[in-house]
Amino acid sequence: MNHQPRPLAPCSLAIVGATGAVGVEFLHCLAARNFPVGKLKLLASHRSAGKTLPFKGQSLTVEALTEDSFAGVDIALFSAGGETSKKYAPIAVKAGAVVVDNSSAFRMDADVPLVVPEVNAKEIGAHQGIIANPNCAAIISMMPLWPIHQHNRITRVQLATYQAASGAGAAAMEELSDSTRAYLAGQDYAPKVLPHPYAFNLFSHNTKIDPVTGYNDEEIKVMREARKIFGDPDLRISATCIRVPVLRAHAVAISFECERPITEHEARAMIAKAPGVKLVDDRANNLFPMPKDASGKDEILVGRIRQDLSDPSGRTIALFVAGDQLLKGAALNAVQIAEHLVKTQ
Ligand code: A2P
Repeated sequence: MNHQPRPLAPCSLAIVGATGAVGVEFLHCLAARNFPVGKLKLLASHRSAGKTLPFKGQSLTVEALTEDSFAGVDIALFSAGGETSKKYAPIAVKAGAVVVDNSSAFRMDADVPLVVPEVNAKEIGAHQGIIANPNCAAIISMMPLWPIHQHNRITRVQLATYQAASGAGAAAMEELSDSTRAYLAGQDYAPKVLPHPYAFNLFSHNTKIDPVTGYNDEEIKVMREARKIFGDPDLRISATCIRVPVLRAHAVAISFECERPITEHEARAMIAKAPGVKLVDDRANNLFPMPKDASGKDEILVGRIRQDLSDPSGRTIALFVAGDQLLKGAALNAVQIAEHLVKTQ
């Protein structure tokens, strides 16, 4: 793919998947961060053509995505699923746009940077037209580990996620609300989007399982992407991904082992200084990160920081994080990448 840089500020933007759970948050982040938006094109499936969405006091009309949608577009933010990205991202690049893609379609491609700006913003400049936004659980998990990894290399990570409905899109969020209402009214509810009853339940992540290893696709994404984001192919990491009945913020229980001994005080001090994270670690009041508090916030909340007592060598720390899946886990991270593009091109 040949990409010719062009002046970007104020830039002409397209949002692919504008009517979706992440799409709406793209609009929120662009407005809240005062992104230098020139033209703004809202794209979705033909089903949504003609709908309107609010942006900075205006009402913008959604257009159906076509191969001609990207003429004159500088940056295209994609969040309409992997198949749409695979088909349309190369078309957008050919038309001269830089694509920031929230799907998993290109994340592991060698020529596609996989970026969490607080960790590896330096990779952005190497793009060939597409920059991938990592998996939401990977972003939320790796943010608090990065400052520690730089100081005392993390060699092994074990994590278990508690993932919200929003990661499966707007229809899954609606399913959680509708099925909860039905449950409380004593009515039957047949799941339409997710494979199991969601109200007052939790289940193993709804992606397909590798019959050989027993890991599901989400877990494999988190493990592979963590290594790529950290630029450390030797990082040993194992994930267990679980869907929980929460609307829009993921939580993750993490235990990580460092090369050298580390105390909880050192870990806490490094995390407290890290950009994009906020300590919520109040033992006296049993107050720690909760999805309810992370929802709608840009920061990843981190707490329960403690020595992992199963490692007598003193090299392992356990902690618990919560982060908004739609913001830092998706739209905010992508808009931060777009901000770097505007600054550096
Ligand atoms: P639409 O609302 O018209 O179906 P979510 O992740 O919340 O499910 O949202 C997915 C987003 O991707 C929506 O904006 C949806 O548009 C859009 N989308 C899904 N399939 C396509 C497609 N084939 N072409 C364009 N947009 C699509």
